[in-house]
Amino acid sequence: MKANNKSLGELRGTVMAKGFASGKPMYIAAAKGAMIYDVEGNGYIDFGGGIAVMNVGHSNPKVVQAIKDQVDKFTHTCFMVAPYDVAVQLGVKLCKIAPGKTPKRVMYANSGAEAVENVVKIARYHTKKQGIVVLDHAFHGRTLLTMTMTSKAKPYKWGFGPFAPEIYRIPNAYCYRCPFGLTYPKCDCACADYMKDFFGKIPADMLAAVVVEPVQGEGGFIAPPKEYFPKMARICRDNGILFVADEIQSGMARTGGKMFAIEHCGVEPDLMTVAKSLAAGLPLSAVVGKQEIMDSVHPGGIGGTYGGNPVCCAAALAVLSVYEEEKILEKSERLGKKLGKYFRELKRKYEIIGDVRGLGPMLAMELVKDRKTKEPAPEATSAIVKVALEKGLSILSCGQYSNVLRTMMPLVITDEQLEKGVSILDDAFASLEKRR
Ligand SMILES: Cc1ncc(COP(=O)(O)O)c(C=O)c1O
Repeated sequence: MKANNKSLGELRGTVMAKGFASGKPMYIAAAKGAMIYDVEGNGYIDFGGGIAVMNVGHSNPKVVQAIKDQVDKFTHTCFMVAPYDVAVQLGVKLCKIAPGKTPKRVMYANSGAEAVENVVKIARYHTKKQGIVVLDHAFHGRTLLTMTMTSKAKPYKWGFGPFAPEIYRIPNAYCYRCPFGLTYPKCDCACADYMKDFFGKIPADMLAAVVVEPVQGEGGFIAPPKEYFPKMARICRDNGILFVADEIQSGMARTGGKMFAIEHCGVEPDLMTVAKSLAAGLPLSAVVGKQEIMDSVHPGGIGGTYGGNPVCCAAALAVLSVYEEEKILEKSERLGKKLGKYFRELKRKYEIIGDVRGLGPMLAMELVKDRKTKEPAPEATSAIVKVALEKGLSILSCGQYSNVLRTMMPLVITDEQLEKGVSILDDAFASLEKRR
């Protein structure tokens, strides 16, 4: 008998650990562009992109070909043992596209969390200090160190302590729910200046780095005002603290018009992490940073068996060519504008949408029970996600209160697919309103 969603779900229940859960009930058999298809032949418009991984589209033919070509040559020698061309060529490109003019160096790892682990190692090594400052609502991964850096306890940290030492958390620029009770722009970005107060508690000479997501991903697509990071980076520089941008979710043109989100505010980070859409679904991550900092680590101090795997690097090189040939930066900018217009229209229509925010197509809607009290509406959010899926749209939620709907669709999505996806969302909101 041919497997279907139900039978696979049942089989899965007999072998897969419960903690290794999936958000959606369908099992995927194929994917193309901005569409995914399950084993029963149902198609879904993919607003999730495998969590912001498929910016060039599922099964992009140029990426698939590059992977096949590399597999035919060789699949692994370990860059730390017997290095190869594709990893070097990719390094040249990554150093070139990293924000800022300071000469850069690169190292590879496999997952986003591993890149964050490495960035912390490098920052500590270079500064000879240990403290790492992270933001409220941050998400940096699920390993011991990165889960410690992550903000939300459930499900990410619950029961997994004790956590790694020397991680300090400060409020972020969540303007919709300002932690200081202020209003932008009158606040003059007081949250960025808070760093200086924070030094009263933990002096700067204990702090190696501040690690930020230029637009927070899992934390709710929180995009700070444009002055926030320049102010923060200046405070870091004045106090000998490295400024690190975690671009794992916000990078690779996710935010429209620029390759990396931090470029929108003109800041050159000292170090940066990249993963997700870098290799279109193959496990590859990188730390790219200022040469002086990256090169401070002794040979062999950073690395691993698979980091910079040749098949992954070949895929990433093809991804970067697609960005150039298919003008993905421009595409993402146009997509962001369209999406912004559609979401603002939805906000005008449905009271439950309290906030529309983000940067470019990294866009989200925060759902609230009441626009005045801003009480989060997580149940309604999961209802929308469920109804949307039934109607053929795969969309993911996020946020500290699980009440944010976010978009991470392939940037190559067609206008027709985008409009259809938004109209499914519109229907889902309408059916929710009817039920209330
Ligand atoms: C900003 C950010 N950093 C780090 C990570 C961890 O990446 P990975 O799941 O590949 O370990 C994620 C994953 O969502 C992320 O969004």
